[in-house]
Amino acid sequence: MNFIRIGDRAALQPGTRRVVHVGRYEVALFNVDGEIYALENVCPHQGSPIVDGWIEERTITCPWHAWCFDLRTGSLTLGEFAMIPRFDVRVEQDGVYLSTEPVPA
Ligand code: FES
Repeated sequence: MNFIRIGDRAALQPGTRRVVHVGRYEVALFNVDGEIYALENVCPHQGSPIVDGWIEERTITCPWHAWCFDLRTGSLTLGEFAMIPRFDVRVEQDGVYLSTEPVPA
């Protein structure tokens, strides 16, 4: 799997989120208590930007119709019929690196 540097670690402090573009993907990054998670920024229900969701512990709730997803896996918490593609994140020295493709399910 290939990785690309998407920014400085200092630019993604705990409690923050942002969107980056990697190839053809728009990816939402979340720093939750120092752990960085990356999901494609599209809810599989009707396409909302998941970056605008509410986070509680390791679950993000879609801002449009409240489907909930595990930030660690992208899986819907209520069943296995939907998921958001997730990307692998590496933090090395002062940089954050993102896989250039989603992690295979
Ligand atoms: S668009 Fe996300 S739950 Fe409907």
